[in-house]
Amino acid sequence: MSITNYVRKEVSPAAAYKLAQRQVHADSIFLNLNESPYPLAPKAQALLETFHNGNRYPDFSQVELRTAIGDYVGFAPERIACGAGLDDVFQILATLFISPGKEVVISNPTFGMYETFFPLHGGVIVDVPLGPAPDFALNLQGVIDAVNENTAMVIVCNPNNPTGTLFPLEQIAEICANVSCPVAIDEAYAEFSGTDHLDFANRFPNAIVLRTLSKFAGLAGYRVGYGIFPEDLVPYVSAATPAFANVSSVSAAIAIASLNDLDALKANRDEQVAERERVTACLNELPGVVAYPSATNFVLFKLPGDSAPDILAQLNDRHIYVRHYPQPHLDLGDHLRVSIGLPDENSAFLNALEEVLA
Ligand SMILES: Cc1ncc(COP(=O)(O)O)c(C=O)c1O
Repeated sequence: MSITNYVRKEVSPAAAYKLAQRQVHADSIFLNLNESPYPLAPKAQALLETFHNGNRYPDFSQVELRTAIGDYVGFAPERIACGAGLDDVFQILATLFISPGKEVVISNPTFGMYETFFPLHGGVIVDVPLGPAPDFALNLQGVIDAVNENTAMVIVCNPNNPTGTLFPLEQIAEICANVSCPVAIDEAYAEFSGTDHLDFANRFPNAIVLRTLSKFAGLAGYRVGYGIFPEDLVPYVSAATPAFANVSSVSAAIAIASLNDLDALKANRDEQVAERERVTACLNELPGVVAYPSATNFVLFKLPGDSAPDILAQLNDRHIYVRHYPQPHLDLGDHLRVSIGLPDENSAFLNALEEVLA
């Protein structure tokens, strides 16, 4: 018998997460993974140059890191769990809540990892789709009605990737208040939105606020994400968190140093928000292009007819990488998503797009 017969039935290569494609050339412009374009904050860079403790294991429960994050968001370290990126915190959620057949309510189009990751644990995705562009409105009653005794959790991504939409916070509050299951609020892009759901973690006993240092703090390669969990769950979260929270010593140290350099991070963020508004306005001036308002570090835009795949290919030929969503159920085949880079990178993208459209 083939060794593949021993693989759990939930694990299917065909259903694996589809990575954004890009190639490294000297002039590549990477605008397809919503990364920060900035180098480390000065304090983090200085730390990196002197770091020498890699022969020792990190602190088992990452208390120092959780304290630094707790200080940043205003919660006791006990309420914080971290992981190697927010994707790794999803693993904690799966360990806590998902057993085969349990349902996970999401609203597509949204972050693709939810519908690829939780089914690996036997979770069943229940999709309550967003309304049409340009509003991409949350189907509030639909989400509440989708919850039943078999629901493991609701996940709301706000602001939402890939649409950039910020759903009204009262709607998220209404979901939390009207269901008893956990509501995981993924606010990976909170710092770009001018608001956040942090107070939800105190107001609602079922709210879990998920965040990352990949975007605002520019630490995507270091992999540090975190969740703020309800008080009652704290002992269970500790039991479900892997040793060292899967965060390496150098990543924890870089994260702490970055959070000690908030002014530098906020200056970068402010430039990105200004650039986001410039890119959105410039896109809307191109013939046949419609760019939607965004509360994140990326912009989703619609292209004329069915030109998106061809335009993507032509941008790739110029070593400019943006994101396309060909999956039919997302209904975004005629759209592209561009991350906000440095001003020069954004201008290069806009010029290339104008050329390609002409
Ligand atoms: C909505 C959302 N959640 C989570 C993540 C994962 O972030 P991390 O780099 O912390 O794993 C992303 C990354 O793009 C995202 O867009």
